[in-house]
Amino acid sequence: MFKRYPTFKVVVTALLFMQQLSVHAQSTTETKINNLIKKMTLQEKIGMIHANSSFTSGGVKRLGIPELVMSDGPHGVRVEYGRGWTVLQDADDSGTYLPTGNTLAATWNPKLGYAYGSVLGSEAKYRGKDIILGPGINIIRTPLNGRNFEYFSEDPYLISKMAVGYIKGVQDQGISACVKHFAANNQEINRDVINVEMSERALRELYLPGFKAAVQKGQVNSIMGSYNKFRGSFATHNAYLMNDILKGEWGFKGVVISDWGSVHSTIQAIENGTDLEMGTDLRLMYNTVSQTTATTNNVTKKSYYDQFFLADSAIAMVKDGTVKESLIDDKVRRILRLMYKTNMISGKRTPGIYNGKAHQQVALRVAEEGIVLLKNSNNILPIGKERVKTIAVIGENAVRENAMGGGSSQVKAKYEITPLQGIKTLIGSNANISFAQGYKIARGQGPDQALIEEAVKNASKADVAILVCGWTHGYDYNKWDDNAYDAEAVDKPNMDMPFGQNELIKAVLKANPNTIIVLMGGGPMDISAWENDAKGIIQAWYPGMEGGNALAKIIFGEVNPSGKLPYTFPKKLADVPAEKFGEYPGINGNVEYKEGIFVGYRYYDTYKVEPQFPFGFGLSYTKFEVKNAKVNSAGNKKYVSVNIKNSGKLAGAEVLQLYVHKMDTKITRAEKELKSFTKVFLKPGETKMITFALDDSAFQYYDEAGKKWAIEAGQYKIMIGNSSQNILQSLLLSR
Ligand code: GLC
Repeated sequence: MFKRYPTFKVVVTALLFMQQLSVHAQSTTETKINNLIKKMTLQEKIGMIHANSSFTSGGVKRLGIPELVMSDGPHGVRVEYGRGWTVLQDADDSGTYLPTGNTLAATWNPKLGYAYGSVLGSEAKYRGKDIILGPGINIIRTPLNGRNFEYFSEDPYLISKMAVGYIKGVQDQGISACVKHFAANNQEINRDVINVEMSERALRELYLPGFKAAVQKGQVNSIMGSYNKFRGSFATHNAYLMNDILKGEWGFKGVVISDWGSVHSTIQAIENGTDLEMGTDLRLMYNTVSQTTATTNNVTKKSYYDQFFLADSAIAMVKDGTVKESLIDDKVRRILRLMYKTNMISGKRTPGIYNGKAHQQVALRVAEEGIVLLKNSNNILPIGKERVKTIAVIGENAVRENAMGGGSSQVKAKYEITPLQGIKTLIGSNANISFAQGYKIARGQGPDQALIEEAVKNASKADVAILVCGWTHGYDYNKWDDNAYDAEAVDKPNMDMPFGQNELIKAVLKANPNTIIVLMGGGPMDISAWENDAKGIIQAWYPGMEGGNALAKIIFGEVNPSGKLPYTFPKKLADVPAEKFGEYPGINGNVEYKEGIFVGYRYYDTYKVEPQFPFGFGLSYTKFEVKNAKVNSAGNKKYVSVNIKNSGKLAGAEVLQLYVHKMDTKITRAEKELKSFTKVFLKPGETKMITFALDDSAFQYYDEAGKKWAIEAGQYKIMIGNSSQNILQSLLLSR
C-alpha cells in the first residue's frame, strides 16, 4: 500500500503523529492538574467548588488559578450584574440580541447553529466571561412551559443537531458553553420542588439524547443540573443522572454546575456529581434554604458563601471522614480541566468582538430563516410594495421591545428593530403607514373597544393591514412584569390569546380581508376563533435585534421564508398529550410523564389527532418537487437519496425531513420518528440529489428489560417529507 501511494504514507504518519500529540498534550495537562491539586489546601479546593459572588466561583491566586466567571444567557450575553444581584449602571453591556432558541431551531440549519454559537462565544469573551450559560435544550413537552422560547424542540434529533453546532460555535471561540437544564426540567410551575417520574424509554429516547449529543458530539465543557427532582432526588445531585449516566455511560469529563440554588444537600452534592454550586446565596438571601444547611459552631457566618452546601459544611465532612477528599479533588480536577481547555491558566485567550456588524448579520440571518410562513391563501403574500399605497400596522407587539424580558435569558440589546420599524425602513416613502395599538398588554385585560375601533378604522382605509399579536415577555427581570407569558418561573394558564386579541383580529379581518396576522412569542396559541378567515399567517417568535427587518423582508418578498415549526402547534390545549394523559403541572408535587414517548408529533401522528400546524411545517414562496427516492446499503449503513427541484420562480430553501417507521412492530412505537434532515437551497429550476446516511441509531429503540438499545429485525418504511404530515417520497428497506 505504502509503496504504491507514498503520499498516503505521509498522511497516515502525520495523522498518527497528531493523534500522539493530542494524547501527549492531554496527559501533560492531566499531570499539570494533578500537580496543582497536590499543592492545594482543602480550604482552597473547597473555595473552587462553590460561588464567591453572583456569577463567579473561587480561584487560587497563589497558584495562578483565576476565578471562574459565568454569565447568562442562551441568546445573548446578559446585562451586567457584576458580583451582586442588581444591574450595574454604565456598564459596557449593550450587546447582540440574537433570536431566541426556538427561532434558531425553526431554521433547521445546523450551520446557523454554529454561527449563532460563534457570536455568543465571541461576545461573552469580550465581556470577560469564561462560561456562557446556554444552550437551553429541554424537550418542549407542553406548549404552556414559560421557557419554551429559550428551548428548541419536541424532537431529540432536531435538538441534537442544533445544539451541537451551537456548542461548537461557542467553544471554538475559546470559552465554554453550559448545556442546560439536566434533566427533565420541562415546566416552570413549581420547578424547584416538583418530582418528575417517567419511563426509562421516554428518558432514553426523548429527554436525554440532546444532552448526550452535547457531551459526546459537542464535547460541551459544562452542563447545568436542573432544579427539579428526578425519580425522588434532586437532579443536580442525582446519582443515576450524574454518576451513572452522565459521567459513567457518557464519559463526561467536564463540570456539572448547579442551577442557581438547585443544591439541597452537602453529602448528596459531594457524592452524586455536583462539581460547582452556584446561586445558593439567592436562597439564603430570601431565607428559603432548607434546614440541612449546616452552620457549624453556631457562629454567624461572615458571608452567605461560607454557608453554601459545598463550603464549610463540606470541609467539616472531609475533616470528620464522612467523605473522602478524593471526591473533592475530582470536582477541582474537572474545573481545572475546563480552565486549561479554555486557556484560562496560560492566559493565551484571544480577544472577543462585541456588537460586530457581522454579529448583527447573523442575528438577521437566523431571523430570516427562522420565521415561519404558516398560511398563504390566494398567495396574499408576499405583498408587492409597489402595489400598496397605504399600510395599517396594528398591535402593541409591533412596537414592543423584547430583549430584556423572559427572565435570566434577558439581554440589553445594542438596538432592537421592532416590526413597525422594520416595515417603515423597508417601505420608506413608498406608502403611507399608520399605526394603531389594537390591544393593551395587561394581565386579565379584555378587549378594549376604543382601541379596536381605531384599528378597524385604520384597516378599512388601508390597502393592506399587518396585525402583530401573540404572546409577550416581561419588560425587565428586576421589575416583575405580570404580563410575562413567556418567562422563567411562570407557565401560561392556557393557549387562549390574551388581551382580547381574538375580538380585535376578527374585527380587523372583517374590515379588511387583506390583513396579515403575525404571531410573536414562545409558541402556539388557540387561533380557532379566526384562523379560517385569515389568508396570511406568520409565526415570528422573538426574532432578536434584527427581527423587524427580517419580518418586513419576508412580508414584502425580499426574503423567501424557509422556517419550519420545531414543535407541533396543536388546535387546542385539550389535544396536548401532556394534558390528556401526562399529568401537568403535577399532583402533590409529583408529575408523571404518563404520555411516555408520545410527545409532539410522536403523539399526534400516531393517534391521528390533527394539529393546527404540524411539526416541521412551513411554507415557501416557491415550489419544490421531490422524486426518485432510492436506497443503497453498505455494511449496516443505509444511504437513502432523493432528487429535489425548485420548480418555482424564486430562489428558496426546503427542509427535507427523513422519518422512520417500523412495519408490523412487535412493541409500542411512535408512528414515525425524525432520524435525519437537511436544508437545501435551490435557485429557480435547480435540481440537487440529496443523500441521507442512516446508521443503527436510525432504527433503534430502547429496550427497558434488556437495559440496552435494540433493533427490531424486519421492514422499515423510510418517509421523506417537508413536514411530519406531508410525506413526499417513501420506500421500504429491511434491517
Ligand atoms: C436561573 C435559570 C438558569 C440560569 C441561572 C443563572 O434560575 O434556571 O437557566 O442560567 O438561573 O441565572
